[in-house]
Amino acid sequence: MSQMQRSHWSNRLGFILVASGSAVGLGNIWKFPYITGEHGGGAFVLVYLACIMFVNVPIFIAELYIGQRSQADAVSAFEKLHHTGTPWRIAGAMGIVSSFLILSFYSVVGGWVLDFQVKSVLNQFAGKTDQEIGGMLSALFADPKSLLLWHLAFMVLTVGIVIGGISRGIERWGRILMPGLFAILIGLLVWCTSLEGFGKSIDFLFTPNFDKLTGNSILVALGHSFFTLSLGLAAMITYGSYLDRNEDLVKASLAVAAADTTIALASGIVIFSIVFSFGLAPNAGPGLMFSTLPTLFNKMPGGYLVSTGFFSLVAFAALSSSISLLETIVTYFVDKRGLSRSKVTIYAGVAIYLLGILSALSFNTLADFKIGKFTFFDLFDGLTTNILLPLGGLIISLFYGWILSREGVKDSIQGHGGELAWKGLMWAARIFAPACILWVLYNGATNWLFG
Ligand code: PFF
Repeated sequence: MSQMQRSHWSNRLGFILVASGSAVGLGNIWKFPYITGEHGGGAFVLVYLACIMFVNVPIFIAELYIGQRSQADAVSAFEKLHHTGTPWRIAGAMGIVSSFLILSFYSVVGGWVLDFQVKSVLNQFAGKTDQEIGGMLSALFADPKSLLLWHLAFMVLTVGIVIGGISRGIERWGRILMPGLFAILIGLLVWCTSLEGFGKSIDFLFTPNFDKLTGNSILVALGHSFFTLSLGLAAMITYGSYLDRNEDLVKASLAVAAADTTIALASGIVIFSIVFSFGLAPNAGPGLMFSTLPTLFNKMPGGYLVSTGFFSLVAFAALSSSISLLETIVTYFVDKRGLSRSKVTIYAGVAIYLLGILSALSFNTLADFKIGKFTFFDLFDGLTTNILLPLGGLIISLFYGWILSREGVKDSIQGHGGELAWKGLMWAARIFAPACILWVLYNGATNWLFG
């Protein structure tokens, strides 16, 4: 696509909603609560919040700036701003690989959500005991055929939206659905204040107990901060490339980080209020959201509607994230390789679906098939979230801080916070964020791999 024809988001709010659409997804509602439960609560949350503020916000600005300045796909962006064949483009290439891997397992979990959405519509939680509800996800896991069908349904939806093109397809959805998700979560949060486990939930999430923090937990917190903001794999370079050149990147980054963090914390409070009110286990793993929320919906007045609304909105949140993963891949093949948009979208969709089969079967047929100590699902998730995204972020941060001119960095904050903000951002991008990432990778990666 030439620069003249490159389509753009219709305005800043449109962009913020769409970027939040990419950021807010299963990472916030499904993953954040369960990994927080597995890593002991408060101290993990604190590290995660620190990573968002001090490592990810600077990298967010960097990614948007690289995209906005270059108006190009994940790989060409580095070439346009540096030179053809620059080794820095490896960050873009890694991003394409990460997008493939992430979407392959993301779509499987998206499929679980679709299944629960349909169960809600059919009122299948009604009259069930807490134990029976707790067993519904395991029953789905035991049924590979259904898992594969739901995974297929999720991929078909993702491909369908991406084929629609950038503003027609993606932006329209973000505008309507993001505020809806926000509203329903806040409603649930208010409802949870009346549960007896509410206080315990707040305590669990916000009272840090550093004894529980290992090198591995810090790695998981850092990795998740990248995953949840869709950073480190050039998705935001891609989205930034559809931004007007004079758009305010600082406001956009801060707004998206704030919305994303609020939604994650709200989901965490809601889910742990249920855990502590009904005697469930905080460290139940990937099934946590699916065993807790229906338990609550079952006991609420109007629970049928809330449950249907909630799972529908989570499904849309998952879709608005999955489309950004696919979009990153598609933009690369369309811009860089000149292929047809619809063909690339369909071929990539098929390849991702096939790869995702390995993750879907990790919960049944292939449960005992391990690579090292990991099932395919754990491997694809851990390798991308814990290793590839932080590494991608590291390269992007160094490129922005050291290779682009100092004036360029100044340009990206457009006078916000004056000289101090500029120096702070330079320092964060050049030294602080890269040093943190290296330190965390060094301390956590071997532990995650072999520990
Ligand atoms: N940020 C999404 C979530 O939290 O669910 C996941 C994701 C989307 C990661 C897009 C990376 C990405 F490029």
